[in-house]
Amino acid sequence: MCGIVGYVGQRQARDVVVEGLRRMEYRGYDSAGIAVVADGAIAADKRAGKLANLEKAIGEQPLPASTTGIGHTRWATHGGPTDRNAHPHLGPAGRVALVHNGIVENFARLREELLAEGVEQLSDTDTEIAVQLVERAVVAGSDLTTAMQQVCRRLEGAFTLVAVDAEDPDRVVAARRNSPLVVGLGEGENFLGSDVAAFIEHTRDALELGQDQVVTLTRDEVVVTDFDGGAAQGTAYHVDWDLSAAEKDGYDWFMRKEIFEQPRAVADSLLGRHTDAGRLQLDELRLSEEDLREIDRIIIIGCGTAGYAGLVAKYAIEHWTRIPCEVELSHEFRYRDPILTRNTLVVAISQSGETADTLMAIRHAREQRAKVLAICNTNGSTIPRESDAVIYTHAGPEIGVASTKGFLTQMVACYLLGLYLAQVRGTMYGDEIAAIVTELERVPGHVQAVLDGAEEVYALARELEAARAVLFLGRHAGFPVALEGALKLKELAYIHAEGFAAGELKHGPIALVEDRLPVFCVIPPRGRDQLHDKMVSAIQEVRARGARTLVLAENGDEDVVPYADTLLRLPRVPTLLQPLVAVVPLQLFACELATLKGHDVDQPRNLAKSVTVE
Ligand code: AGP
Repeated sequence: MCGIVGYVGQRQARDVVVEGLRRMEYRGYDSAGIAVVADGAIAADKRAGKLANLEKAIGEQPLPASTTGIGHTRWATHGGPTDRNAHPHLGPAGRVALVHNGIVENFARLREELLAEGVEQLSDTDTEIAVQLVERAVVAGSDLTTAMQQVCRRLEGAFTLVAVDAEDPDRVVAARRNSPLVVGLGEGENFLGSDVAAFIEHTRDALELGQDQVVTLTRDEVVVTDFDGGAAQGTAYHVDWDLSAAEKDGYDWFMRKEIFEQPRAVADSLLGRHTDAGRLQLDELRLSEEDLREIDRIIIIGCGTAGYAGLVAKYAIEHWTRIPCEVELSHEFRYRDPILTRNTLVVAISQSGETADTLMAIRHAREQRAKVLAICNTNGSTIPRESDAVIYTHAGPEIGVASTKGFLTQMVACYLLGLYLAQVRGTMYGDEIAAIVTELERVPGHVQAVLDGAEEVYALARELEAARAVLFLGRHAGFPVALEGALKLKELAYIHAEGFAAGELKHGPIALVEDRLPVFCVIPPRGRDQLHDKMVSAIQEVRARGARTLVLAENGDEDVVPYADTLLRLPRVPTLLQPLVAVVPLQLFACELATLKGHDVDQPRNLAKSVTVE
């Protein structure tokens, strides 16, 4: 998720673009860049790090006066956060500059085509192939709009592209597919942004672009077409948000916005990682197939929510690869003097990539010659830099301290790792792997279906606003979901919440159950009945002792109905993937209960987004 700005009008483009980028730094802060069109040329500057680095650079070496420009704040996906990988990218002739938000899924194939033509790749990004293709069309005689339409017809994946042509100074052209883009309509000037925060200081009249559309801006005209050049329409609306609401896309909290971004985050984390035939390709993995075939033990480490993602992963990875898989809290790992060999794979899960407990644990693992693979959402952060390999999640910046989309995409990355290991080691047939990939591709839609039922969860939160304790029960892959649901409630609503393996209840915790105590019960799908029936027994046990049972069960599961005081329905997914949908109502519940209590949901008391002390 990156921040994009475009401008054409009467003001100094540099000022409008930098100001717009400042409003959108929350969308990405790995690097920032700007390009303006002046005197028949492109003048551009781009710097790794915060926007301030770019402002310093263009303060020292000012850009020429111009009324046409584009800008970008980056959240790195392909290619680390460096000056070279920062946007804008220019074509080889320096005639076209382009910025991009999203992931071009077929960029490797297109890059091969350009390399075969002798076009040098200066960066590690998928964006560069887009600008090279657009410039190639412009140099061949197409105007920028036609060139953009031609190129967009060849790109697959998720992308917002915005470009300028040195020889066409009064025009900015943009396009979108599966990635946001909105036009700000001014008087004698027009704006582009990833969201309205980019321009609401100047205009509140907006035009939202639809899927597969190209928009051409001049200072007095906005023309929308489809990718074939046919006339198309955007959706006009008036923005009545203030800037703070605009940064949260109209949500009250970043956390709530990030909960609702999860379908996109999961889809982006799957992009480019498998062929149409379902064969996996983890091109940033950097461990050879030989290395992976020699792995005889996996230890997953992480803290908090990241650790719970590891617990979910254990069930899937062991089932698919038959490699023994342990899960350990990072801060406990190195103090137990773990037995590690060259054939041990330590998987470090961390959204921020800066958690000190996890960083110290991987340093210990590498000293012991184990191989370390990071699963991380922050490109170029310390943990992936100090690992042998990495699988990046593509959730975009997670601003809320309570992890939500980070958790879902960590699980997706773990599933991809397990399937890739099974593919390399031959423990699953290709069609079995492809079938699970197909199920994963359906998850964004399933998560959206759960989100569409958010009001039912909010009503439950209002009923339970005064609750002083809540228990969470789960079994198998639902057990880590119970732990995560309890953590969300603890860290947001500041009430006692505890997750249990349902089978453990009778060994002591059931003594906690008293009249009207709310107990969430995560019911496994009915595919593996020994799990499902046992979980129904657990509901009966707590209900018999007066608990208020809040049951999460798949659509069509009627066995649980007699024991559910409240029944929240889940889409039907395979047992091992159910955490991806089961956790979402628990995220919504915790967010809403904390809101009702008047807490700061994005920055809960005593907590930090990244715990960089041991
Ligand atoms: C989860 O809601 C918390 N913010 C916390 O448990 C977090 O998951 C943990 O601190 C690990 O952070 P990391 O993923 O950045 O390493």
